[in-house]
Amino acid sequence: MTKTRAAVLISGRGSNLRALIEACKAQDFPAEIVLVVSNVLGAEGLAHADSAAIPTRTVDHKGFASREAFDAALSEVLDEARVELLCNAGFMRLHTEGFVRHWWNRHLNIHPSLLPAFPGLHTHARVLEGGAKISGCTVHFVRPQMDTGPIVAQAAIPVLPGDTEDSLAARVLAAEHRLYPHALRLVASGAVRVEGESVVGLSRVRDQAALFSPPLNEGL
Ligand code: GAR
Repeated sequence: MTKTRAAVLISGRGSNLRALIEACKAQDFPAEIVLVVSNVLGAEGLAHADSAAIPTRTVDHKGFASREAFDAALSEVLDEARVELLCNAGFMRLHTEGFVRHWWNRHLNIHPSLLPAFPGLHTHARVLEGGAKISGCTVHFVRPQMDTGPIVAQAAIPVLPGDTEDSLAARVLAAEHRLYPHALRLVASGAVRVEGESVVGLSRVRDQAALFSPPLNEGL
């Protein structure tokens, strides 16, 4: 089986990276991680790649005068590793439009809300402030505007009475760790594709594209 050559871009902790590394260990998983790139020197998540013997590179954004120059350096390391699919996993840099266009429909991101609600930073605080009763996480194809693009898969998580930013973040993160491997499998296997800015697939696959976790009454 030929596996899709994926790279994961991180900026910090790398817990989603770790979930993707674990998923890719399965023989029948349609992608392999051939490179992990951090834009932050010494990012904690690089250790997960090291322990799985996956090559890492750091392209420190602080060393570049412009976003264009940073993205050009990033492209160079991705090209060297013959990367076919990019996965942003807590990568906290906006890409240039040219970079996004180059990776069009070959570039995924995970965000800790049910997009298009609550894009951007401080997601969980804004969910709580807004009084939302359901939150969750989304894996989507990357487009030039932050946290937008065709949605591959989502998981819904209830907001519980008494939730704090941390407690909600922890439950959403656990769902992220299940959702990202699921979405990467759908994309890398070719089971879904983008049509007119929507992700479509076989109806069986569409039915699998959402995860509802945990059941709505759990913990109440
Ligand atoms: C995750 O919650 C991810 O969804 C979020 O950053 C965290 C990274 O955690 N990404 C965004 O907010 C993108 N807008 P991790 O480094 O442990 O995977």
